[in-house]
Amino acid sequence: MHDPARTAPWSSPAVGDKRSLYGDLAKELDALLTGETSPTANAANAAAAIYHSLPDVNWVGFYFLEHSELVLGPFQGLPACVRIPLGKGVCGAAAAERRSVVVTDVNSFPGHIACDPASRSELVIPLLAYNRLFGVLDLDSAKVARFDEEDRRGCEALAAVVIRHIAPER
Ligand code: SME
Repeated sequence: MHDPARTAPWSSPAVGDKRSLYGDLAKELDALLTGETSPTANAANAAAAIYHSLPDVNWVGFYFLEHSELVLGPFQGLPACVRIPLGKGVCGAAAAERRSVVVTDVNSFPGHIACDPASRSELVIPLLAYNRLFGVLDLDSAKVARFDEEDRRGCEALAAVVIRHIAPER
């Protein structure tokens, strides 16, 4: 069970190399979500923990698959577009292709959906369990080329932790 009294890494962004930052964050995230069964509560805490742990992000949150649309879930950042059809925008592309998408400059991604005009680069990770798509984890930054391969791997590991705590039992 998560102990709310213990030191939380998201109260101050972690320092050090990216790999250890993501490794530490994955462990802390797992501890934070363990013991809670509400998918909404766990997705909300995950969005807040990731948003407050990673430097230079202006939006972190979830879209969940409902029929053939992605619908806005818990997030941190400015209010965002609520429904994204599969295949549309960066989120829709990652969901439809079931692969992570790193966009170095959103202005050069055809069909990018601008929710916060400050966003310049983006990373979207599909949430997959039991060979089923549940939604996506979306991260935006106001910096061009904020996300690299290390961020992709690190955020895929975070998404794997989250999906373990929000996917219903098979
Ligand atoms: N930019 C995304 C839309 C979601 S927001 O960034 C929060 C996209 O193109 O799918």
